Amino acid sequence: MTSTRSAAGPWWRDAVFYQVYVRSFADSDGDGLGDIPGITSRLRYLRDLGVDAVWVTPFYPSPQHDAGYDVSDYRGVDPRFGKLSDLDDLLSQAHELGLRVVVDLVPNHTSSEHPWFRQALAAGPGSHERARYLFRNGRGRGGGRPPNNWESVFGGPAWTRVPDPSTAPHHGGEWYLHLFDASQPDLDWRNPEVPAMFEDVLRFWLDRGVDGFRVDVAHGLFKVRSLRDQRDVPRREGSDLPGDPGDRAMVERTVRDEPMWDQPEVHDVYRSWRRLLEQYDGDRMAVAEAWTRSPESMARYVRPDELHQAFNFAWLLAPWSARAFADVVRGTLEAVALVGAAPTWVLSNHDVVRHPTRYGGGPRGLARARAATLTMLALPGSAYLYQGEELGLEEVDVPPEHRQDPSWLHTGKVGRDGARVPIPWRGTRSPYGFGPAGTVPWLPMPDDWAPLTVDAQRKDPGSTWSFYRDTLRARRRFAQGCDDVQIVEGRSTVLHLRRGCLAVLCNCGTRPVRLPPGEVLVASGPLDGHLLPPDTAVWVR
Ligand code: GLC
Ligand code: MG
Repeated sequence: MTSTRSAAGPWWRDAVFYQVYVRSFADSDGDGLGDIPGITSRLRYLRDLGVDAVWVTPFYPSPQHDAGYDVSDYRGVDPRFGKLSDLDDLLSQAHELGLRVVVDLVPNHTSSEHPWFRQALAAGPGSHERARYLFRNGRGRGGGRPPNNWESVFGGPAWTRVPDPSTAPHHGGEWYLHLFDASQPDLDWRNPEVPAMFEDVLRFWLDRGVDGFRVDVAHGLFKVRSLRDQRDVPRREGSDLPGDPGDRAMVERTVRDEPMWDQPEVHDVYRSWRRLLEQYDGDRMAVAEAWTRSPESMARYVRPDELHQAFNFAWLLAPWSARAFADVVRGTLEAVALVGAAPTWVLSNHDVVRHPTRYGGGPRGLARARAATLTMLALPGSAYLYQGEELGLEEVDVPPEHRQDPSWLHTGKVGRDGARVPIPWRGTRSPYGFGPAGTVPWLPMPDDWAPLTVDAQRKDPGSTWSFYRDTLRARRRFAQGCDDVQIVEGRSTVLHLRRGCLAVLCNCGTRPVRLPPGEVLVASGPLDGHLLPPDTAVWVR
């Protein structure tokens, strides 16, 4: 198995990115929300940890119905998070420390408080103001049913009806599409005003010095033109039966087709953004958040004339299993090789359950999480870390009355707040240095986090923090520059990879296994002489 990147290349090809979730990273002013000056004050921390780049989640003016992914002004900073000059300071201080900064771009939808949407509501049906969004008449008698059967990602119908300004307020008017919350109306990317606006936004931030963009819902911008119903379609696929991989039986399943996602027209947008980015110096880049159905469709976003990277969510969706991990590694490397791109890897972010908890929680979940991280960081390409994973934080069971995520509010079951609890920096109780003494964090911080603070862990060579720092150092020294990856063993309970001089073993089984000969460079947990215990990974040279 060989990936196709060359050893030298632009900075992002093998960079380790650290995702800063703005409202939960560091609060400089004590209002309970993290902010830009808070991030700036912690840049040295990130440099010491050993990451190369920071991805900062949305800080733009926003009513915060979806934690800032509902933008009402694409060219500013929400006063809760600071001022535009604070962002300039963040960029210049990060660059001085040798860190790159990538910002989030939210092109699929605006906030319902964006001037465009307010104008659309005021202007009424048939107006050019409404044509920037997807307004349609409803179905059925009086247009009382939504225009199609699509559902919002957060639960409930993807359409909301608005009154017509020309009729009495209780008369129903058109419906507008929102694939997420009703406060996040989808833009119509077939309207040339929309791409033109976003090209200006890209230039605005590039001119200020950002190194790149994380493109939110990158697979969503175009919907099937007819906005037809979503349908059930039969799909034949291989079932994962134990035994010889050649024996995969074909099974018939029904899946919903996706007329709202991953439409071919979206790729022209990314071709034009690539050209725009290339007008700037410094290898500016963009990474797509594209939840596509296969590694092959993910690879279409990173063709040579499109975006530089796409998140590869396969590992984050995989169970704790050497075979599953091997399939992810193989599938990813094969897919990016089709288009000559570099792979990316990620185990956690602000939208999913933190990986120690996914792997069962408690000491075993943490041991597995560290093992998976060590395995991932051995691979070529770039990796994305989510704030707090270097502390081994688990998903927090946020009490219902404190929940703020719209997906929780719509469904009462799915919620992402548990991965978004603020970072504990020091001390023995809330707010653990997240903000000045007396700060009430926007989500409550658990009572038992004193041993997990940054201060506590930096003093302890066996802590998860020290493990991340040691691994990132070892990655720079030993793992970079050599890009051939072989899967030596991936069909048993142990994943065994080889990358250049490195042997990487991850023991997903229940029994210890013998280590290969050589020098142990890093281990995700204690070793037992020449044995690699279960739930542990190791790099051997
Ligand atoms: C992306 C973001 C998520 C947000 C959604 C809508 O998936 O990561 O947090 O809710 O887009 O913008
Ligand atoms: Mg604050």
